[in-house]
Amino acid sequence: GHKGHGGKLPFAPIKPVDAAVDAFNVPKGYSWQPVIRWGDPLFKDAPNFDFARQTPAAQAGQFGYNNDYTEILRQPNGKKGLLVCNHEYVNPQIMFPAAPVSGAEEAQRRAIFRNAVGMTVVELERGHKGQPWDYVRGGKLNRRITANTTFELTGPLAGSDFVKTAADPAGRHVLGTLGNCSGGSTPWGTILSGEENFNGFFRTEGTSAEDRRYGLEDKATAMGWELDDPRFDARGEDYRNEPNRFGYIVEIDPENPNSMPRKHTSLGRFKHEGANVIVADNGKVVAYSGDDERFDYLYKFVSKNKYKKNNKAHNMTLLTEGDLFVAHFAGNSASEIDGSGTVPADGKFDGSGTWLPLVVNGRSAISGMSVQEVLVHTRLAADKAGATKMDRCEDVQPNLQTGKVYVACTNNTKRGLPGQAAADETNPRAENRDGHIVELTERRGDATATTFNWNLLMLCGDPAKNTETYFSGFPAAQVSPISCPDNLAFDTQGNLWISTDGAPSTIGYNDGLFKVGLEGKNRGNVQQFASMPRNAETCGPVIHDDESMAFVAVQHPGEEGTYAAPNSYFPDYVADGSTPARGQVRAPRPSIVQIFPEGARRR
Ligand code: FEO
Ligand code: CA
Ligand code: CA
Ligand code: CA
Repeated sequence: GHKGHGGKLPFAPIKPVDAAVDAFNVPKGYSWQPVIRWGDPLFKDAPNFDFARQTPAAQAGQFGYNNDYTEILRQPNGKKGLLVCNHEYVNPQIMFPAAPVSGAEEAQRRAIFRNAVGMTVVELERGHKGQPWDYVRGGKLNRRITANTTFELTGPLAGSDFVKTAADPAGRHVLGTLGNCSGGSTPWGTILSGEENFNGFFRTEGTSAEDRRYGLEDKATAMGWELDDPRFDARGEDYRNEPNRFGYIVEIDPENPNSMPRKHTSLGRFKHEGANVIVADNGKVVAYSGDDERFDYLYKFVSKNKYKKNNKAHNMTLLTEGDLFVAHFAGNSASEIDGSGTVPADGKFDGSGTWLPLVVNGRSAISGMSVQEVLVHTRLAADKAGATKMDRCEDVQPNLQTGKVYVACTNNTKRGLPGQAAADETNPRAENRDGHIVELTERRGDATATTFNWNLLMLCGDPAKNTETYFSGFPAAQVSPISCPDNLAFDTQGNLWISTDGAPSTIGYNDGLFKVGLEGKNRGNVQQFASMPRNAETCGPVIHDDESMAFVAVQHPGEEGTYAAPNSYFPDYVADGSTPARGQVRAPRPSIVQIFPEGARRR
């Protein structure tokens, strides 16, 4: 059929798929195919992917590994587009046909990995609007950003003693971006990316309170890059500050391939999942960002200066200067939430909240800490401020139409354990395996407000297996099972789309992409739209419902496989014993996938 040809992405929800199944499933009437896969060449002079003979130089010119945050910017005629994508980390044990046989080969692989992380910008094209896209090899905007690309630091930490190293005594320029997880697009056409689990790339002395709070340790790293480049070994004087140069929101201008990407220290340093911006009524730009660690916090940045329409150069300065806040939530129910998941006495998980100041008007709001200390050791500043410990904030997405803000709390299996924070009305389940979503309404709808109201949109889970689910009153028996919400997006009709990471280990189904209504009788109605291949996380959803198209970044397919025994063949699905066609590989490849109505044929 031609379901969805009229736009708006109509679908009947798919059934959840058992976690042992290696398949990519979409609703009846829809097809899927990759836009681009790990290893696909971006440049004319980049070689075709050769799984058995990969090199660092080849990888530097090819699409990177473990695609996460994804954005697709369309030109008005719909025939050209620009795809921007993060590459969070690598899975060495499934990126080659066999284990390395020599130290030299191990070193070569480490160099490949440094070129497989970071970001990609790649042009897209198609015959006309509504068709699936092809990527443009040799597009003039195509770009790879790797662990070796030069970034400029902005804001109060730029040039400070906290970020100076032997290689950068001025403390102004950093090589690379690491652990890039989610992100956001700005109204001025740039892309933001969050440096999340950066700590694991560095070996440090690991003894200071700051190192411990950031998970920085004195042990050999999993990547082993400290064997190749001294900046990854922060134990000595020369590179003591190198880890202070990661853990930021970075901004890149995808329309200018020669622009230097930047790291904005004004938004603080923590395990930024990503950042999403909204222009407040007074013209200031507000960026929301979660720190994805159990019991860590939700943050908000408010720019000093105001957004100016059609002035990109000015707008690109907005994230360099402003105020930083961290959230405190209070519940309002008379009955204490005991972690049983019972709906509170007033019928809702809800209450009020305060944005606690960390930096205001260029001054520190935290006694005993300078502005620079607050921004480089933001977690310690937020501890002092008394912020609310959350169940791992992933995407924090303002709905640009309503101003309401949605916070995906993916899970927190340690909530309520001995010595850990107890359940509260905002994070109401002990040993929270399935996660939940907070809906936050700023006071008077003003994104710059310092107070807010909040309520829970849902407590996730499979209602057939978990009696502690909640879907804003929508009948639990009618929703698609959903667990571990991670990335968020909106369609043009005001529905929230949720991608998940971790469902196989909690509800036994592969991760997926889900739509949920927010208003009226459809509020809380979760419907599954896509299911991922084995071991894969659903990332970076992009919803172009005006064309009945949706896009997902399929991250770490087959992650639990090995060189010898892959457990996923996504997306090429080359059968054992058969010969791969040109461009195919008998191994899993992280890919950006487009989902479109059957019949919307490729050019
Ligand atoms: Fe990389 Fe918070 O997920
Ligand atoms: Ca309540
Ligand atoms: Ca994530
Ligand atoms: Ca994730």
